[in-house]
Amino acid sequence: MKFPATPRLAEFCAGLAFLFFSLSAVAAEPDAENAGQKAAMLCAACHGVDGNSTLPANPVLAGQLPETLLKELNDFRRADGKPAARNNDVMGAMSAVLSDEDRRILSIYFSRQKPVPPTLDASPAPNTSPEDAGTAHVAPPEFSERAKTAQVLWRRGDFDRRIPACAGCHGTTGKGLPSQNPRVAGQHSEYSVAQLKNYRSGKRANDREKIMRTIAEKLSDKEIDALSELVAGLR
Ligand code: HEC
Ligand code: HEC
Repeated sequence: MKFPATPRLAEFCAGLAFLFFSLSAVAAEPDAENAGQKAAMLCAACHGVDGNSTLPANPVLAGQLPETLLKELNDFRRADGKPAARNNDVMGAMSAVLSDEDRRILSIYFSRQKPVPPTLDASPAPNTSPEDAGTAHVAPPEFSERAKTAQVLWRRGDFDRRIPACAGCHGTTGKGLPSQNPRVAGQHSEYSVAQLKNYRSGKRANDREKIMRTIAEKLSDKEIDALSELVAGLR
């Protein structure tokens, strides 16, 4: 394994060594839920103890399909010195210390947690400027165009550009369709933007039959931003 020796990563690996031992203790636990909760302490700093991450770069795991969580945890592992199917230094290091059983328990645990929508304070400010005051019923043109673009792609896709409707696979409300199509509803838009761009550039290449790469290739930056905003708002 080869990792860039940044101080952040060194510090992180020291933490991993400690947590690895606490996880071994957990493996002996008969109660899966309890074991899952203890194991999740490993993940809490970044994803929240119940999988409701508050940092936009770290995905919300709460309520994600267990099959998705398990697949992604497996894909982050490097095998035989080859790059991981999903290449990410932090999660690669994380996943390397987990046993098959840890991955299974953690996937069940996080899938059972309830996704908590961000509080009103944390949501983006309404798209109005002082000049709009009193005319709030007239949506600013930029907003409506963006939202409309995203909604059309989400619900209907774009036949001419051969983009299938996102909802067809992720579900109308973005809750995901078991067992293969992940939940995207309520996800941090920053994370979704990053993933869609990673599929587009091929940096993320662990989607079976290039499903998401083929779609993301056709999306502009603006469309990616608008779609990510839309899914962040789905409940
Ligand atoms: C130091 C921060 C950090 C820690 C600790 C961490 N993660 Fe992550 N995790 C991330 C980041 C960042 C990503 C996004 C990676 C990417 O962009 O590909 C991620 C992605 C994931 C994903 C993919 C989610 C998806 O929707 O595809 C899963 C599953 C996951 N983490 C599970 C875990 C579990 C389980 C643990 C604890 C054993 C853990 N993570 C610990 C930062 C962290
Ligand atoms: C044909 C089915 C299908 C369609 C249509 C589809 N997706 Fe996906 N999507 C998937 C699958 C399957 C994955 C998981 C791939 C993987 O394992 O990396 C995925 C992954 C994603 C992810 C990453 C989720 C995560 O947690 O990391 C995002 C974001 C996403 N899709 C958004 C969209 C958007 C936006 C559209 C419409 C423009 C769309 N998808 C259309 C099947 C589909």
